[in-house]
Amino acid sequence: MKGTKLISVDSLLLACLALGFLHSCPSVFAETDEAGAEADSETPQEKLLVIMLDGFRWDYYDLHKKHLNAFQHFISEGVHVEWVEPIFPPVSYPSWTTVSTGVFPETHGVIGNYMFDLNISDPTQAVFDIFTHETTSKIEWWQNSEPIWTTATRYGKKTFLRFWSRCDVPFNEVKPFECTPYREARGTENIRQTFNIAVQKLKQDFDLVMVYGEHIDNIGHKYGPNSNELKQALIDVNNMLNELLDQLIDSQMDEKVNIVILSDHGMTWTGMGSGVQYISLDSQIDKSEVYRSVDRGSFMAIAPFAKHLDSVYQRLLKVEGVDVYKREEIPDEYHYKNARLAQDILVVAKEKYFIRGLLTSKQIPRDKESNYVWEGNHGYPNMPDMRGVFFAKGPAFKKGIIHKPIHLEDVYQIFARILDIPAGPHNGSWSRVSHMLVNRAVPSVHSAFTSTLALAFIACRLAILFLLEDNSS
Ligand SMILES: *[C@@H]1O[C@H](CO)[C@@H](O)[C@H](O)[C@H]1NC(C)=O
Ligand SMILES: *[C@@H]1O[C@H](CO)[C@@H](O)[C@H](O)[C@H]1NC(C)=O
Repeated sequence: MKGTKLISVDSLLLACLALGFLHSCPSVFAETDEAGAEADSETPQEKLLVIMLDGFRWDYYDLHKKHLNAFQHFISEGVHVEWVEPIFPPVSYPSWTTVSTGVFPETHGVIGNYMFDLNISDPTQAVFDIFTHETTSKIEWWQNSEPIWTTATRYGKKTFLRFWSRCDVPFNEVKPFECTPYREARGTENIRQTFNIAVQKLKQDFDLVMVYGEHIDNIGHKYGPNSNELKQALIDVNNMLNELLDQLIDSQMDEKVNIVILSDHGMTWTGMGSGVQYISLDSQIDKSEVYRSVDRGSFMAIAPFAKHLDSVYQRLLKVEGVDVYKREEIPDEYHYKNARLAQDILVVAKEKYFIRGLLTSKQIPRDKESNYVWEGNHGYPNMPDMRGVFFAKGPAFKKGIIHKPIHLEDVYQIFARILDIPAGPHNGSWSRVSHMLVNRAVPSVHSAFTSTLALAFIACRLAILFLLEDNSS
């Protein structure tokens, strides 16, 4: 009798030790990807300022750091991520939408700066064109995934956006508190003004301020990533960032505001002397077989007439410098092909190639000249030059951290966490970003689980005490 009881005490003891180990080892669970932002009453109310600097390539900082003291300040006082892996295609609207929703383009549906919906019979309604703002304002483009500003607004946060994507288009009938949507706002003065307004809003009772500046991207396209003009653009933005930081100190907000600076994608040199070949597909395919061709440069989506799909495809396979895919052949890791608006054929330029738009009214958009050269371009897959930046500082972030690379789809959950609102279903990975944040109560998925473990552990120990007592009597 005594023997059997002792064995059960031993095995119970082992079970208890195992539970105790799990319970005191939160890292096992803290790393799970399910752990997004969950309401947590102990989190202090903090503000979040997100500054998106279009086309800020990951290594611009290293190349010019002695001129970029505002960014140095972020590194000593906060977090510098080595680089941000872009999504495909690494161009503005798809990337902006991944930043705000945390999902890949095939899920949020905004797969290009230009898109064409074959199911809309009126061609003027079927086009999405980044520079024709009436076309991007259509509600239907934007209803797949909820942007962070909508979630924040629904949770009672006061939200402000300036030049940020189509923040003016309601999601599920909810609009942010205040928003100016994307429009061309070129030059440095626009950035200074935007930064000033951001500070004003933070001084008021806004919780989430998201602002956008395109200067660095504009200069990168026009003069190239290696130009003096680009270096000057970085210095100008750096100086304006210093003004913003000073204003936050003056208003005693520098310790209270979390600031994230990120870019949507990088930039590669495609200008004279770069060795990039500009190729035209006009003579390679029979344009009468094509219904629409969408975008150009690093990739082109082609909608052939159905009966000519194979003919167009076979001809394109012979073209040098491009990868050609039927929709179902597009690599899974692009997270692109399952989008409703993906066309039947995707042509992707290899490194050192640039695809010119077709010279036909079927081309979206139509370039004014036929032999132009862009000094800089982006949109290429698997190219280090497409990587972006992430700098952050504030009460939510650790100080003085050089952080391993993260992915563009990861940043959404950081925003949700700081704002203390639940993250929607997303494609980010918590384990890639959790280490940059100061230690707080772990998300509730985890807490619920560990509390269960804790209870089990206590019950276990009580049972042992009981058995031991029983034994000794
Ligand atoms: C167009 O509509 C048809 C019928 O509803 C559907 O099967 C098809 O997938 C749609 N195509 C696109 C590109 O939305
Ligand atoms: C991305 O997340 C969405 C929403 O949870 C999901 O539907 C989709 O399958 C995910 N994509 C991948 C490649 O995991």
